[in-house]
Amino acid sequence: MAKIQVIMGTTRTGRFNERVSPWVLQRLKDHRFDAELLDLRDYPLPFFDQLPPSVTLRNYPTADIARLGHKLDEADGFVILTGEYNHGYPAVLKNAIDHTHIEWHRKPVAYVGWGGVGGARVIEQLRLVAIELEMAPLRNAVHILPEVIRPAMQSKDPTDFSVFEPIEPKLKALADGLEWWVRALATARAADD
Ligand SMILES: Cc1cc2nc3c(=O)[nH]c(=O)nc-3n(C[C@H](O)[C@H](O)[C@H](O)COP(=O)(O)O)c2cc1C
Repeated sequence: MAKIQVIMGTTRTGRFNERVSPWVLQRLKDHRFDAELLDLRDYPLPFFDQLPPSVTLRNYPTADIARLGHKLDEADGFVILTGEYNHGYPAVLKNAIDHTHIEWHRKPVAYVGWGGVGGARVIEQLRLVAIELEMAPLRNAVHILPEVIRPAMQSKDPTDFSVFEPIEPKLKALADGLEWWVRALATARAADD
């Protein structure tokens, strides 16, 4: 079963990510992925100030960075959950990415974003970052707009996924695309071994 890590790319108090992550995780499991959450709150990293990980590879300078690197290595693909901060990616997410490099190589990544324009700008930026990591960023994304964010925030039950009903087809398309790319790239990586 393909292993997908669902990365919670925001860590602030009161984050909307809490509302999104159970839904995405459940739908990926429904799709028969071996899906798990990777919460960046569990990886409190310093601001990156090391030699480039593209050079040092898995020669990790600290135990926390090694823990993140080994975790990313386990994945066949990723779904990044992200809010949009000042039209860009959350610093905590980019910082985690900058601490690593080869762990992401030749794996697919898809995005679920939210905000005034459904996280469209942050997702486009993250796709550019993915290219530098030699990843395959997927076209199909989920953009959560204010008309879905509002009822989701008001809903008392965090496991009430009915608020996401209008965008279920988008998540299904994301999962379908991810399945194809995970299979293609896992096969290609295995041929290299
Ligand atoms: C520092 C900061 C900057 C923000 N900038 C934007 C922005 O540029 N575009 C946008 O659509 N929303 C912006 N927002 C609103 C976020 O989309 C919203 O707070 C969202 O819930 C953030 O994700 P999170 O709750 O998981 O942290 C910003 C929020 C913060 C805290």
